[in-house]
Amino acid sequence: MGLPRGPLFWRLLLLGAVSSGILLTLLSAAGRPHWGLRAGARYTTASQAFTRPKAADSGTRKGRPCRYPLAQAVQQDPHFRALFNFSQPVLLAAGLFSQELWDSLSQRRAPYGWQGFPRQDIASTLSLLNSSDSAQLLGSREPRRDCIRCAVVGNGGILNGSRQGPNIDAHDYVFRLNGAVIKGFEKDVGTKTSFYGFTVNTMKNSLIAYRTAGFTAVPRGQDLRYIFIPSDLRDYVMLRSAILGVRVPSGIDKGDRPQTYFGPEASASKFKLLHPAFISYLTERFLKSKRIISKFKDLYMPSTGALMLLTALHACDQVSAYGFITSNFWKFSDHYFDRVKQPLVFYANHDLSLEAALWWDLHKAGILQLYQHRA
Ligand SMILES: *[C@@H]1O[C@H](CO)[C@@H](O)[C@H](O)[C@H]1NC(C)=O
Ligand SMILES: *[C@@H]1O[C@H](CO)[C@@H](O)[C@H](O)[C@H]1NC(C)=O
Ligand SMILES: *[C@@H]1O[C@H](CO)[C@@H](O)[C@H](O)[C@H]1NC(C)=O
Repeated sequence: MGLPRGPLFWRLLLLGAVSSGILLTLLSAAGRPHWGLRAGARYTTASQAFTRPKAADSGTRKGRPCRYPLAQAVQQDPHFRALFNFSQPVLLAAGLFSQELWDSLSQRRAPYGWQGFPRQDIASTLSLLNSSDSAQLLGSREPRRDCIRCAVVGNGGILNGSRQGPNIDAHDYVFRLNGAVIKGFEKDVGTKTSFYGFTVNTMKNSLIAYRTAGFTAVPRGQDLRYIFIPSDLRDYVMLRSAILGVRVPSGIDKGDRPQTYFGPEASASKFKLLHPAFISYLTERFLKSKRIISKFKDLYMPSTGALMLLTALHACDQVSAYGFITSNFWKFSDHYFDRVKQPLVFYANHDLSLEAALWWDLHKAGILQLYQHRA
């Protein structure tokens, strides 16, 4: 940690960052959605799509193109067409590290910049991400499908009792994040996890804050990949130690054994690193909060859930969002795994109203399908 930060900052992160998967807001955009205005008959309404079991068509889907790929929906929407740039590299790997990148990112402060970070810590971490897998999120693990369908599972209370588990698991890839409790909630949230996204800060805070709710370990699995969100130097240092299978040598996680979090398999192919420039692009284009210019500007970060959902939108052909905030958020608890109903909480480090409005707009444009429930 080379950055002086007061106790308030850490308290906000401890309290706030752990809730980042659960997108809560003051959004009051009530009323019925205008289904399929643009997508028309080719795109079923979300309520149909979310109640029809999808497992049944997974066998026949292979080799068939998407009915309505999200890139096509983006093209048809003037607002989002100007925001999306599908050429932006999503991941940072060895091949993309250059003097130019160092010069540019070392001018920017954390989160997402490298100002004050020792070059050796960045360079040595990135040099380990040198396989072709490291540069691609969906990689070459299996033959490329014609339509890659992804589910991103936030931790919002809307999933309690939702029975969406089979629908979630029917997707080709499932993204989860932070306090993703699965045991005991399989019917509602499914069991499949292809990606688990986090910063070291949010992962460790989730393990503390949601322990009693059952989040006693980070999800593991042979096919599971971890997505590091580099918000601080500690993320690079932890990532390097995880790939090398050694204890963290320095910084605030000094002495940690990465295997306690990620399991015994230490290899570069297990880990992905979001490109800091990709996160800055997302923040600038999609999540430009007024907080960037307010007194909270040094705290502001998109939530982990927002980063995972936007990552999926840049890597998959179709994306469904489960457990993300909807206009009737107040009917649901903070998290699906809460023992007693908790009201939603707003923290200065995120802008959940902005995120909620974005999911709604993307849903209306047919770019993603937002799981909704009347409760
Ligand atoms: C999209 O991103 C690529 C890669 O960063 C960049 O070269 C290109 O100029 C961008 N295009 C637009 C329209 O922003
Ligand atoms: C990647 O880097 C490691 C460590 O420096 C090296 O052993 C390995 O051969 C490299 N792999 C590739 C594909 O370049
Ligand atoms: C979860 O759903 C059950 C059944 O509908 C309900 O009894 C319980 O209060 C809910 N939990 C929370 C935390 O809202």
